[in-house]
Amino acid sequence: MSAKVISISNQKGGVGKTTTSMNLAAALGILEKKILVIDLDPQANSTVGLGITREMVSKKPTIFNVLLEKESIKKSIHNSSSKNVDILASTINLSGFDLHAQKHFDGSEKILSDAIEPIIDDYDYILIDCPPSLGLLVKNSFVASDSVLVTVQSEYYALEGLSQLINTIWSVKKLHNRNLSIEGILLTMFNQHYNMSQDIYNEVKRIIGKNLLNTKIPRNVKLSEAPSHGISIFDYDSSCAGAKSYMLLAQEILNG
Ligand SMILES: Nc1ncnc2c1ncn2[C@@H]1O[C@H](COP(=O)(O)OP(=O)(O)OP(=O)(O)O)[C@@H](O)[C@H]1O
Ligand SMILES: [Mg+2]
Repeated sequence: MSAKVISISNQKGGVGKTTTSMNLAAALGILEKKILVIDLDPQANSTVGLGITREMVSKKPTIFNVLLEKESIKKSIHNSSSKNVDILASTINLSGFDLHAQKHFDGSEKILSDAIEPIIDDYDYILIDCPPSLGLLVKNSFVASDSVLVTVQSEYYALEGLSQLINTIWSVKKLHNRNLSIEGILLTMFNQHYNMSQDIYNEVKRIIGKNLLNTKIPRNVKLSEAPSHGISIFDYDSSCAGAKSYMLLAQEILNG
């Protein structure tokens, strides 16, 4: 078994990357898959959202130590609050990654893919929660991945910046990782009751075509409440619309 590695990415901030990383992982875990979430964002939102406290973080090496100080990845992994979901935690010091990597690793894009090698056979899926940028951290994520899942918020400017993101994916594919593909584009924070959301969906569908996933994630306040309790939507309210949609997404991903 070798894990399928999926980057969850968009250089735009606040478009549902972390919410999707945590809850897609939890859904796949409920479906009996073994999942590792890698929190690649110095904001550490998925670390906190999956129940890893400051005290727990202080007891093990973090993604920063694994990437830049050659700490053992096996010793750095925490069990999260969700069934079958492990997590490699992040901290704010990861914001120094680019500088450090330029200085000591020649700006290498391969640091993350080398780092996950020892654990790649331990999981069915590795989900990487990317920071909102297209910098060296995200390039490392794309080099380490089989595919990229792009989250797009259902709003008027949804598609802004998307061509730049797609270009970055193709350039990483060409230069470093021929196997890289687009897993799909996921519309998040969809509001059924606004005509505008449907207009945006149609527009995205027209431009993106086959890459647009069938599953849409509705705007659902429960999805924004669960992380403050350090649990996924399935442990917070498994019958809400947000939970149902993330379970559908997991099934869509499993069925390829
Ligand atoms: N479907 C949803 N319904 C309601 N709120 C949501 C939904 N998805 C995300 N949110 C909320 O929107 C905010 C941004 O979401 P999230 O943190 O997942 O985005 P992000 O892309 O990871 O942001 P960043 O770029 O800062 O990492 C959060 O407060 C989150 O709780
Ligand atoms: Mg995030």
